[in-house]
Amino acid sequence: MNHLDELRVRLSVCDEQILDCLIKRNMIVEDIMKYKESHNMQIIQPEQEKRQTQKLMENLNGVRHTKEILDIFDRITYNSKKIQARHLFNYNIVMIGFMGSGKSTISDYLSTMFAMETVEMDQIIAKREGMSIPDIFEVYGEEYFRNLETNLLIEMQAKSNVVISCGGGVPMRERNVVEMKKNGRVVLLTAKPETIYNRVKDSHDRPLLENNKNIPYIAELMEKRRVKYEAAADIIIETDGKDELEICEELVQKLLEMDEKCI
Ligand code: S3P
Repeated sequence: MNHLDELRVRLSVCDEQILDCLIKRNMIVEDIMKYKESHNMQIIQPEQEKRQTQKLMENLNGVRHTKEILDIFDRITYNSKKIQARHLFNYNIVMIGFMGSGKSTISDYLSTMFAMETVEMDQIIAKREGMSIPDIFEVYGEEYFRNLETNLLIEMQAKSNVVISCGGGVPMRERNVVEMKKNGRVVLLTAKPETIYNRVKDSHDRPLLENNKNIPYIAELMEKRRVKYEAAADIIIETDGKDELEICEELVQKLLEMDEKCI
């Protein structure tokens, strides 16, 4: 065997070892998840991820190709999160709630914690139509926009393990609720009108609130929608006074409880 062949054999042995380690590592990730579930522990533990990164940085101190190795560990972490997500949720998570209830923020946090794809309905619709939501309302009218929402929900049924952040009006159509439930668990986020007002008062991308940014109007519209929101929801989470981690942890726990009840 010449020297090049010998090096290739050694490389292949390294690959086998890496593969072996990855298989073991992924099994440990699943075992950790099962342990947390069976001991009713907090599922999302961002502090632990920080500790792992710190440990890795200590071990990498002065090692050659640090950047390339870090890149691989980033992928490992990302895929561990994906394994956890698939273990926990074999369906889409559909986020509903009034404008400013935190759907986008919580969807982003959840998707970061579990490396899940986020589908921000308003953003996708605006991108596909090549115009903002207020412009769609203005040019084509609300009904046209609502039809786009329904079609997008149907399209999402082909996916799984995605966080779908719905526009606030989506659950108002009964058909939409039927479509979102076909492959999704529906999470309703709620907040007091005062909290909503504070969150939306400086933005201009919500045509329904543009000339009505005041607490009584928000409270009235919210009350009008409440029955339909609650009827659509599989779980409800109050967001006032809670941070993103608390909200997401409550969300995960409630979804797990739902699974237990379904068994
Ligand atoms: C709407 C909510 C908005 C957007 C549109 C209509 C509604 O989304 O879809 O302005 O009817 O509640 P957000 O809830 O994300 O603001």
